[in-house]
Amino acid sequence: MKIDILTLFPEMFAGFLEHSILGRAHKAGLIEINLVQWRDFTLDKHRKVDDAPYGGGAGMVLMCDPLFRAIEALKSADENFPETQVIYLTPQGQPFVQSIAIDLSEHAQHLILVCGHYEGVDERARILFDREISIGDYVLTGGELPAAILTDAVARLMPGVLGNDESAVHESFMHGIFDHPHYTRPEVYRDMTVPSILLGGHHAKIQEWRYERALERTREVRPDLVEKLGQK
Ligand SMILES: C[S@@+](CC[C@H](N)C(=O)[O-])C[C@H]1O[C@@H](n2cnc3c(N)ncnc32)[C@H](O)[C@@H]1O
Repeated sequence: MKIDILTLFPEMFAGFLEHSILGRAHKAGLIEINLVQWRDFTLDKHRKVDDAPYGGGAGMVLMCDPLFRAIEALKSADENFPETQVIYLTPQGQPFVQSIAIDLSEHAQHLILVCGHYEGVDERARILFDREISIGDYVLTGGELPAAILTDAVARLMPGVLGNDESAVHESFMHGIFDHPHYTRPEVYRDMTVPSILLGGHHAKIQEWRYERALERTREVRPDLVEKLGQK
């Protein structure tokens, strides 16, 4: 998979892409991630991307032309990736959930992630987007953190990115509920003990215990998820 991230601030991604699992996947060529400077698609000497809003009011609006040029250029840049999905990160988008990450990791070949800023993009540029995604009901200053979150959630599901020890299969939301509690050495820490069932080696009983704890925890915090599970 190839992910192009269109941003005014590529330097914001530096540490994030270089380290940990994503850094490894990037270096190993399991996923190609390109940071694309939005201003490279301007035609004026000041590399201007924004202007004041028609109708007045606070804030600046990202102009159509640099964005149209960027998307057109990125779409035609590589014939190895003929199918592109353009995603605009916006608080007005569809809420980002694990099922979207799974769908993108399984079906998308080439993603262009558009990181807005200021008041966002000129409304007319929205015809460029195949999808608009929000990472939550709050407003951030820019789309860089949302794009990083989406990239991480999708990349870690790509084959070969996680080692066996880090498998995504049993994690929260993969089966509609939270992950079960985890424990590691030592067996007793400040008088807190590991549940004895995890020490007994009875695989079926451990599975059953883990499922019950996962369900219990989900019911406490997110009863809506448990309800949805019952409806399936
Ligand atoms: C200050 S916000 C613009 C908010 C916009 N005026 C509104 O109220 O809907 C600037 C940019 O940050 C990004 N952004 C902010 N919050 C976001 C969220 N919850 N999810 C995804 N992107 C977000 C978007 O790319 C947006 O264009």
